[in-house]
Amino acid sequence: MNIDGKHYRTIWLKEDDSSIVQIIDQRHLPHKFIIENLKSVDDVARAIKDMHVRGAGLIGATAGFGMYIAALNAPKDEIFMPQLAADGELLKATRPTAVNLAWAVDRQLEAIAAVNGGMDAKITKALETAQAIADEDADFCRQIGQHGLSIIEKISKAKNGDVVNILTHCNAGWLAFVDYGSATAPMYAAHDKGIKIHIWVDETRPRNQGARLTAWELGQHGVPHTVIADNVGGHLMQHGLVDLVLTGTDRTTYTGDVGNKIGTYLKALAAHDNGVPFYTALPSSTFDWIMHDGVKEVPIEQRGGEEVKYIQGFHDGEIKEVLLTPEDSPAANYAFDVTPSRLVTGLITERGICDASEEGVLGLYPEKKN
Ligand code: MRU
Repeated sequence: MNIDGKHYRTIWLKEDDSSIVQIIDQRHLPHKFIIENLKSVDDVARAIKDMHVRGAGLIGATAGFGMYIAALNAPKDEIFMPQLAADGELLKATRPTAVNLAWAVDRQLEAIAAVNGGMDAKITKALETAQAIADEDADFCRQIGQHGLSIIEKISKAKNGDVVNILTHCNAGWLAFVDYGSATAPMYAAHDKGIKIHIWVDETRPRNQGARLTAWELGQHGVPHTVIADNVGGHLMQHGLVDLVLTGTDRTTYTGDVGNKIGTYLKALAAHDNGVPFYTALPSSTFDWIMHDGVKEVPIEQRGGEEVKYIQGFHDGEIKEVLLTPEDSPAANYAFDVTPSRLVTGLITERGICDASEEGVLGLYPEKKN
């Protein structure tokens, strides 16, 4: 994706020092563009936990590079693999909901353990695997864009080329992945093809990933959009102002239940009530192939109440936080919810579009049938 005309991914190796991983510290966006160096497993764990990086795909890619850093720094003796396993556990414990995190750590551990050569060969494998996870993430999102484009094209035709209004929640954009994004990839593909679209961007309290990140990246790409408060979507749908709801997900069960940023479920209910199609876009790394009942089983992260009580903004050239609530009021901060499959029109994956059901998902991924 381009920022002021320069192409960026969200994570990469430092050009002149391959022991350093670089990320965009997203806590400062859209006001400041700051690149951060990650040199240790602790740096990586902090970057994920404190949300310098966030979003399912990028959390997975960062964990992949984290395991490469772990391999570089681990003692080069019989402690090597146990140390890597411990570092993997540390990374997995940073955030519970996005399944890409554990998936990337386990993929690395398996790949490194399978190397029979010496330590150098294992480190080389860790680097190759980190890069493969990142490249695959970008490529899968690009393919999601092409599949999702067909849905937008169909609506555009039905509206005789009139603007297609799409509502999205949180940030499932290129900032949540390595490139392109999941929910945004079809939007970018449609916009680049000259299809008229307009995006309603939910602000996404409490951390405002929609208002801060989705609005910023759509703006960088020239996609028409409007930021709305979280509670507006239902009203817009009742008045025919939303043609499609398109979200990402942090963990979707193979039965089609969609875990995503808190508030997604309410949008799905409103979409269902108003006959608006509700699609979720995801690469296969975001499927949970074990959990059957998402509402009961997907672990829902609860973050600190201060994220609800305080709000961040830009003033006088600085990012500041101000108190929003009575100082003593307790606050609860459930970060995700689960939308049951019956409310999901379809899933857009790198292999195509399927029903949000076991039959639909396993039809696209038959190798996952056991
Ligand atoms: O808490 P975050 O910012 O890591 O949450 C992830 C998200 O941005 C959303 O839930 C997104 O829609 C799915 S992640 C591709």
